[in-house]
Amino acid sequence: PRPQTIFSGIQPTGTPHLGNYLGALQSWVQSQLTQSSSTSLYYCIVDLHAITMPQHPAALMQSRREMMASLLAMGLGPERCVIYEQSRVPEHTELAWILNTIAPVGYLNRMTQWKSKLNLDPNEINVTEVADTAGLNLGLFSYPVLQAADILLHKATHVPVGEDQLQHLELARHLARTFNKRFSKKSRVFPEPQPMLTPTKRVMSLRDPTKKMSKSDPNPASRILVTDEPAEIQNKIARAVTDSTLGITYDPTNRPGLATLITIHAGLTARSDSPESVAKEYEHMGHREYKAVIADCVAEYFKGFRGEYERLMKEPKVLEEISRKGAEKARITAQETMQKVKTAVGL
Ligand code: ADP
Ligand code: NA
Repeated sequence: PRPQTIFSGIQPTGTPHLGNYLGALQSWVQSQLTQSSSTSLYYCIVDLHAITMPQHPAALMQSRREMMASLLAMGLGPERCVIYEQSRVPEHTELAWILNTIAPVGYLNRMTQWKSKLNLDPNEINVTEVADTAGLNLGLFSYPVLQAADILLHKATHVPVGEDQLQHLELARHLARTFNKRFSKKSRVFPEPQPMLTPTKRVMSLRDPTKKMSKSDPNPASRILVTDEPAEIQNKIARAVTDSTLGITYDPTNRPGLATLITIHAGLTARSDSPESVAKEYEHMGHREYKAVIADCVAEYFKGFRGEYERLMKEPKVLEEISRKGAEKARITAQETMQKVKTAVGL
């Protein structure tokens, strides 16, 4: 059966890097073409999730604008998708509170992302004491509940996720089941959302192929932003870590640095070729020459994007208006759901 409602979110981290793009945003853009018009698409900038980590208010404000402009410049259409910022739709937090009241603390304690924040062995069970002393906030602990609320608020049937998020989606399914069983025996309020496993394109750091490309990496040369100028792209790719073996082969185990570059190249070719077949095409090329090919490919791919992004960033009022209208649309389904939820609970 074809998806009926797809929901996905991204934190307002400024302009996306190639990992964000190939791991998530590219499939958002493609969903507009591949999903039937009867499927609803919700794409949310999850700023309430972002504040579970310390943020500078002015920087957060700027990052929210940059992410919104990026999504639009990539070609997400506000006519086709509901694109909005989470904090403009108060029903997210309203539903999160209600779900908090049925979310088992023990279940949340076992979340690997929470545990990794505590720097604990995921098999360690009794983490409550440590959490108290680590100065971590309650919002970070209940982050997966807010995420469940995001998904269930629009009765999403399908959620594009990477492997690392499957555990959080499982919690959303658990909370949907628990809520339905306890409060809505006659007519189910929530469908159980299904994971939509997108072909994983994990992009690694250009400077250390054992780490993923990330916004939080202190070395800006480790990532390419989709807004980077051609000269910056060239420079970063030229300095990317590879190896001393001659020729081009796709071998993530033995040639991880080169594999990262091939993954990027394959991900941005129009035909979406496999990394293996892209490598085959360039097998006799030298590293320096092949790096120049990839740099051109990246610069070319995001050429139109950069112009549109800059245009949008000069029009804060337009951005504000698009964001406001997106939230208005999102609130329609959000309020419908909250009405049913409150009635079911007796509120
Ligand atoms: P970051 O690690 O830069 O902070 P986020 O955690 O905000 O990025 O991730 C936003 C989205 O981008 C998520 O869907 C995540 O799975 C995806 N993503 C982030 N980094 C990568 C990467 N290096 N490779 C593939 N996908 C990634
Ligand atoms: Na991250």
